[in-house]
Amino acid sequence: MGATESGPSVAVVGVTGAVGQEFLQVLSDRDFPYRSIKMLASKRSAGSRMPFQGKDYVVEELTAESFDGVDVALFSAGGSVSKQFAPLAMERGSIVVDNSSAFRMDESVPLVIPEVNPEAMSHIRLRSGKGAIVANPNCSTIICLMATTPLHRLAKVLRMVVSTYQAASGAGAAAMQELELQTREVLDGKQPTCNIFKQQYAFNLFSHNAPVLSNGYNEEEMKLVKETRKIWNDKDVKVTATCIRVPVMRAHAESINLQFEKPLDEDTAREVLKKAAGVIVIDDRTSNIFPTPLEVSNKDDVAVGRIRQDVSQDGNHGLDVFVCGDQIRKGAALNAVQIAEKLL
Ligand SMILES: NC(=O)c1ccc[n+]([C@@H]2O[C@H](COP(=O)([O-])OP(=O)(O)OC[C@H]3O[C@@H](n4cnc5c(N)ncnc54)[C@H](OP(=O)(O)O)[C@@H]3O)[C@@H](O)[C@H]2O)c1
Repeated sequence: MGATESGPSVAVVGVTGAVGQEFLQVLSDRDFPYRSIKMLASKRSAGSRMPFQGKDYVVEELTAESFDGVDVALFSAGGSVSKQFAPLAMERGSIVVDNSSAFRMDESVPLVIPEVNPEAMSHIRLRSGKGAIVANPNCSTIICLMATTPLHRLAKVLRMVVSTYQAASGAGAAAMQELELQTREVLDGKQPTCNIFKQQYAFNLFSHNAPVLSNGYNEEEMKLVKETRKIWNDKDVKVTATCIRVPVMRAHAESINLQFEKPLDEDTAREVLKKAAGVIVIDDRTSNIFPTPLEVSNKDDVAVGRIRQDVSQDGNHGLDVFVCGDQIRKGAALNAVQIAEKLL
């Protein structure tokens, strides 16, 4: 499909960034129909060239006027840009799909994973004259809920304990460059450059760099707690999380322990996950082959493995799983484009 008169006019905000670039890749891969496309970023990149589907576009500086005539605006330029410009885009009738955390917990804004809760955005219509914001959940939440929702639907999750192993790409293009640079520096016996993170990242790991709150959790961990409740529309589900940055270039991993209301055995769980949209099962105990970040990098599906009964819980009421997902793709750009597809 690609460029077509019947498609919506699209704007990509933050197009020069890690997620922005992935937006273009995903729009292309999925043959997303569009009448026109605007490439928007900060003043710093205005005027630079951006090739897309055989055409050369010029990156424009983001202003309120950027959204005149725009049907769908895909935002990935950080929370403060979203807070300032998403309402302006909405006023002009655009449907904003926002990747930042700015509006996720706003009661009037649907927080959507299309495979999980598409009904939350069913009232939003393209070109109705009424703009809207749909929020893309945090990348760790998306990857976690892609794997756990099929099990939750069957046996109802009462409590979930999540430990994450998060890649550099989650912190943007500059963090990926810094990990590469540091790796070279350490191997050359030099002091590693620490501009993005305060400590050595190469050959190390550390608690997620999100600010730590007064309850001792960091913001990334609390996103998992709060966003799960909103997406599952279940204020009682108990979630706790520990989020760690690991020196992986791209794709997050998560170890998830689940406690269910109803019994669920591991064979049934494996079969349910094999049939779930957007999920693949990699669970080869004989060869010790399970999901890895490298395996899922640049791929759409979230991989689940290590599916096993939790021996600390009686009566098949607990399971452990290990999950990997490309957080720039399903954790950000792909999920946002799938939201936009729901509007077509
Ligand atoms: N990386 C991920 O896996 C991931 C996952 C989910 C959500 N997100 C969210 O997506 C957003 C972007 O993340 P990223 O990883 O793509 O970051 P990034 O690689 O640092 O890219 C940031 C983008 O925002 C643009 N930008 C910055 N300030 C701007 C301004 N004042 N006006 C217009 N554009 C501006 C930058 O343009 P210039 O090139 O002109 O500076 C660049 O295109 C963040 O809110 C992040 O939390 C990221």
